[in-house]
Amino acid sequence: MIKKFDVLVIGAGPGGYISAIRASQLGFSVACCESKTYDDPDGEPRLGGTCLNAGCIPLKALVASSEAYERVNHQYAEHGITATDVTMDVGQMIKRKADVVTRMTSGIKLLFRKNRITLLKGHGSFVGRTDDGYQVRIGTPTGDEEVVARNVIIATGSKARHLPNIEVDNVTICDNEGGLKFETVPKKLCVIGAGVIGLELGSVWRRLGAEVTVLESMPTFLAASDESIAKEAGKLFPKQGINIVLGIRIDEVKKGRNGITVSYADAQGAGHKLECDRMIVSIGRIPNTDKLDLEAIGLKTDERGFIPVNAQCATAAPGVYAIGDVVRGPMLAHKAEDEGVMVAEEIAGQKPHIDYNCMPWVIYTSPEIAWVGKTEQQLKAEGRAYKAGKFPFIANGRALGLGNVDGFVKMLVDATTDEILGVHIIGSEASDLIAEAALAMEFHASAEDVARTCHPHPSLSEVLREAALATDGRALNM
Ligand code: FAD
Ligand code: NAI
Repeated sequence: MIKKFDVLVIGAGPGGYISAIRASQLGFSVACCESKTYDDPDGEPRLGGTCLNAGCIPLKALVASSEAYERVNHQYAEHGITATDVTMDVGQMIKRKADVVTRMTSGIKLLFRKNRITLLKGHGSFVGRTDDGYQVRIGTPTGDEEVVARNVIIATGSKARHLPNIEVDNVTICDNEGGLKFETVPKKLCVIGAGVIGLELGSVWRRLGAEVTVLESMPTFLAASDESIAKEAGKLFPKQGINIVLGIRIDEVKKGRNGITVSYADAQGAGHKLECDRMIVSIGRIPNTDKLDLEAIGLKTDERGFIPVNAQCATAAPGVYAIGDVVRGPMLAHKAEDEGVMVAEEIAGQKPHIDYNCMPWVIYTSPEIAWVGKTEQQLKAEGRAYKAGKFPFIANGRALGLGNVDGFVKMLVDATTDEILGVHIIGSEASDLIAEAALAMEFHASAEDVARTCHPHPSLSEVLREAALATDGRALNM
């Protein structure tokens, strides 16, 4: 007999698994299908999508290991701690990362059981529509099963974009998947694309001793971030040993017995050759609708491959929603999760809403970069009257004690109402500090609200408060 569900979720990434849980909390019968096995020893589909298996979580585990290695080697001496003969066991680091991933993905399986979500192990594709709902085929190597659902949430995520004619083998020429599991530290690593993955993964392998060159096609560095943050990062990263070349054009990548040769033209058009033993291609990601058969229910992707949706993530097919990386907007796990919650609540007849302007961004480099809201260049382009307040970490006691003094917090506020319009941080723990700014913006707080809120001392959060005071020329410790 054909199984019937109120809600079927296709894809168990952060968008999919969270929407399945929320739909179940709201009383629906829910199924979620997932096909990708990643490195599962039993060949079972792994839950958690890109984020847990080949993205956020494994990358941050490597960030932590490589930062620990760098601290022991370069920062502990000033504390009076000497460590000699420090070695890095890359195999152990990769094993630890795999263990973190396994704990997280197994945790989702438990959450599915707790929430009575039916896990359908296989690839979902649309077959058509009947009076009972949408028919979806769940394809497995051993045979297909068809299920029917009144509502379908498409959460099929994204995949790495590759350079034309350059084969990614995920051993020497890698995308995110291979770049997260090198078995040894590359001697010379070439990263194509100075975006989020390039900077985070490039930093990991640089800390462990690789000579890292990042080749970026855009003439400006970190164009999406506030210019002052990009400028500061552009000073700090090369000092750490990451060589960033802007405005290049890749002409050829040749894999030989002795390594990889990258031929590129610089911003002036002059030709260069770069030799390396490993390469990471991180030039963005593309939405994944492989073998989903959208046309069976009258849907098609837009010219960039995304599934068109409205502000509530509803597609043109009634009862079919699409969320996360497969639709417009930033490709971020927390964006996918929030959209997952939103559509489940919509299916339940609620009126949820997401303010995308309050969605934080983080880049897990050292120091971290984080922002929420508008950049100064965006406010200028809008002709909005604003005030800026900036406060450096070096003037904060906690930052000095930690030995993490690089960077600053910048707050941008409306010149008349004092409402916070954007907060930009480069500094230690920016990923956690930005949450206060996002909350303040969700509540349409003013800089005065933040300035009058008692912050713990000594803490890095005091820098945010000082930046709020600085918008009115009242910083206390500067
Ligand atoms: P995905 O996580 O891609 O999940 C989609 C799932 O659907 C996959 O498991 C796929 O196998 C499955 N699927 C696809 N088609 C089908 C089908 N037809 N049938 C069944 N299953 C299917 N974001 C952050 O916010 N913070 C970070 O620190 C961060 N770090 C990242 C680091 C890296 C290296 C990468 C690559 C990405 C990172 N991201 C980060 C982005 C984040 O991983 C994505 O935005 C997020 O995973 C998107 O979630 P999703 O649910 O839309 O899709
Ligand atoms: P990205 O969009 O962040 O950066 C890609 C970079 O490659 C851009 O700077 C682009 O100009 C450059 N580029 C494009 N084509 C090129 C070419 N032919 N030659 C040289 N450079 C080229 O994409 P990335 O780093 O691949 O990451 C994909 C997505 O994953 C991000 O957009 C982000 O949404 C997500 N992610 C988020 C993280 C976080 O939140 N901390 C961490 C890692 C990824």
